[in-house]
Amino acid sequence: MTSVRFDTRVALVTGAGGGIGRAHALALAERGARVVVNDYAVSIKGDHEQDDRAQSVVNEIKALGGEAVANRDSVADPEGAAAMVTQALDTFGRIDIIVNNAGINASDAIQHEPGPAYQQHMAVHLEGQLLTVRAAWPHMERQRYGRIVNTSSAAALGFVQPDGTWYGSYAIAKGGVLAATRQQAGAGAAHNIKANAILPLAISRMVAPLIPGTTVLDYMERHTGPAHVALAAAVLASEQCPVSGQAFSLSGGRVARLVYASPLGYANPDLTPESVLANWDQVMGESDAEHRLLNFYEAVDNAFEYTLLQRAGIGAEVAL
Ligand SMILES: NC(=O)c1ccc[n+]([C@@H]2O[C@H](COP(=O)([O-])OP(=O)(O)OC[C@H]3O[C@@H](n4cnc5c(N)ncnc54)[C@H](O)[C@@H]3O)[C@@H](O)[C@H]2O)c1
Repeated sequence: MTSVRFDTRVALVTGAGGGIGRAHALALAERGARVVVNDYAVSIKGDHEQDDRAQSVVNEIKALGGEAVANRDSVADPEGAAAMVTQALDTFGRIDIIVNNAGINASDAIQHEPGPAYQQHMAVHLEGQLLTVRAAWPHMERQRYGRIVNTSSAAALGFVQPDGTWYGSYAIAKGGVLAATRQQAGAGAAHNIKANAILPLAISRMVAPLIPGTTVLDYMERHTGPAHVALAAAVLASEQCPVSGQAFSLSGGRVARLVYASPLGYANPDLTPESVLANWDQVMGESDAEHRLLNFYEAVDNAFEYTLLQRAGIGAEVAL
């Protein structure tokens, strides 16, 4: 097995003062990366708190013999995001890896969106990731090397709270992260900049209060530590990273790709609403009782829609 090391690499990890971010910073530093440990120090809802958690993690890294520097800016502030990258360049001379991890959780219910917390969720979860990448991109492009790990969430696939609340802005922003990752991967392909997304699941201060006294909390405490997420994500941050534009569920030692897929579907240039309904099984595609998809195509990009149209017999004579 080739070892995964970061000896010549400089990483920025956002929201790294605790939880999963701290685990990312420790895992990268332990394997040789010099790390900018960013944390704006806020509560789960995003209110400023007084501790210096970024420095605490820097101290932990240094105590283990690693190299790190603290940054206390907000990823939601364009100048702050740019300053994180500048700090990496000024302190360590380069920027190779961004782990966009900072997050809050105060989402309103979907039927109340855009609600009071909407802008803040977009700013932290979605714009924050765009801002750090925007600041680092010219440097990554120039050095023809970059690794971007964006934090999405299974919430983007549907997220209901134990009290029956279906979240809005949190899930929406995390869905946007998946799209942004896909686009960054496309733009980065010519420059050896790889971008992938993770859907982590790990016990942290963010999730524990949502599920007090439940068997799920007990399960998470026993089996889903933040280090599991960080060690798997290290593959995506590494030189050996085999893919770009993909998303992975990471939890408790399980690593699995999330696939965007489409069946051939129902295709008829003369369709009517009635014929669509009459052929609903084809629209939905086949899956077995365990939700395993049968006869689905991986959805690669928007151009692949034309391939499927033609494969379904519509306009197959046109050379695209
Ligand atoms: N824990 C899970 O199971 C889970 C599941 C899905 C997604 N996530 C995502 O993983 C990431 C980490 O979550 P966690 O569970 O470790 O939460 P956490 O609350 O323990 O850590 C989040 C950190 O981000 C920091 N932060 C918040 N806003 C910031 C900003 N504007 N700028 C810089 N730092 C900021 C906070 O101060 C905090 O230290 C988040 O993006 C979260 O949405 C977590």
